[in-house]
Amino acid sequence: MHRFILVLILVWQSLPVYAGELEVLHYWTSGGEAEALNVLKSMMKEKGHVWQDFVVVGGGGESANAELRQRVIQGLPPASAMVKGPDIHRWARLGFLQELDKLAAWQNWDDNLPDVIADVTRFDGQYVSTPVNIHRTNWMWINKKILDEVGAEVPSTWDEFEQVAKKIQARGYAVIAHGDQAWQDATIFESVALAVGGPEFYRRAFVENEYAVIKSETMMKVFAQFRRLKPYLKTDLSKPDWNIATEAVIKGEAAFQFMGDWAKGEFEKAGLKAGEDFICAAMPGTRNQFLYNVDTLAMFKLSDKADRKAQEDLASAIMSEEFQEVFNLKKGSIPARTDVDLSKFDECARLSRKEFHIAEQKGALLPSIAHGMATTARVQEEFYGALHDFMHAPEMNDRKAMVTLAKRMRYGSYAIN
Ligand code: GAL
Repeated sequence: MHRFILVLILVWQSLPVYAGELEVLHYWTSGGEAEALNVLKSMMKEKGHVWQDFVVVGGGGESANAELRQRVIQGLPPASAMVKGPDIHRWARLGFLQELDKLAAWQNWDDNLPDVIADVTRFDGQYVSTPVNIHRTNWMWINKKILDEVGAEVPSTWDEFEQVAKKIQARGYAVIAHGDQAWQDATIFESVALAVGGPEFYRRAFVENEYAVIKSETMMKVFAQFRRLKPYLKTDLSKPDWNIATEAVIKGEAAFQFMGDWAKGEFEKAGLKAGEDFICAAMPGTRNQFLYNVDTLAMFKLSDKADRKAQEDLASAIMSEEFQEVFNLKKGSIPARTDVDLSKFDECARLSRKEFHIAEQKGALLPSIAHGMATTARVQEEFYGALHDFMHAPEMNDRKAMVTLAKRMRYGSYAIN
């Protein structure tokens, strides 16, 4: 009888005490992204919680914000949502986010998160969001076989890039695989701006949104440089997704892709090796400069006790060293926690962390405007719109494009956020 009771107690103890439901809004649907997210899903399942995907299709989170707003207005926020940059503060200011300070103290977030990340994930001194990674957007991905075949080196300036591009074209390969979507244009544009104008120009234009810096000769030069890339962009209008472009580089149909390091997740999933099959390098003119894009899962206030416990488990799992390692190995990014060692990571990840620190020291660590880190969603929307015009309206010369960008961003900044 005693043994029977003991067994019962053991079984009871091993059962999850609170099985909560975790609805999580995200837009990770490509092969590499989904695989990375599965790490988190399994961790939560092991804890006995029920994971509910709230997927908003669209790379770069184009439509995610609007969907989230709808749900919160209806009084039905998900347990957690992918929210980035200044938008985290906006939700926190409105009182919707759950503070996570006890957990943060227990897991020592303060000592192990870079300042720029702690600053965006904290509001009024309290943590309200959990950073899963550090992505870098000013990367280029190169098919090594094509580069070797044309006998070229990795270009480090835009002039060098054009010389290589001509050789590649002459061999009949596409040069830059690219998806025709505003956020993808913006991803290239922001790196060109950094290369042409330098870190101070970038900060004043895209973080401080200084009108006189946006409406400037330097910005015109940025557009002029971007225009020089246009003939090399290979877009498949019927399939504009970024991962389809990555696939073209993987298959050896195109030589380059200018994209954040989520692209690496696709190379890895296809079994390709960094340094052997593909090369990662900073985009021309941006070595030792770093445009960061940090995915964070913000935790919304919940009333159900079991769901709250599940949410706590989610936040705690995300900030564990174990998760940060396994997830980022698949996602292509590097861990947000600086105490996670990179011995299992490839050379791209190690270069990323190295250049993150160099850039941090020299004032060249900057938030990505294309990925919602630098400014509000409203200003970003106008930024996308101006770039879309530049890419598609034939009358858009460099001066017109620059003026349009300045006016639209100023208009966006008037909006209430
Ligand atoms: C970024 C996001 C990445 C990746 C990419 C493509 O904005 O931060 O995690 O998912 O979009 O969807």
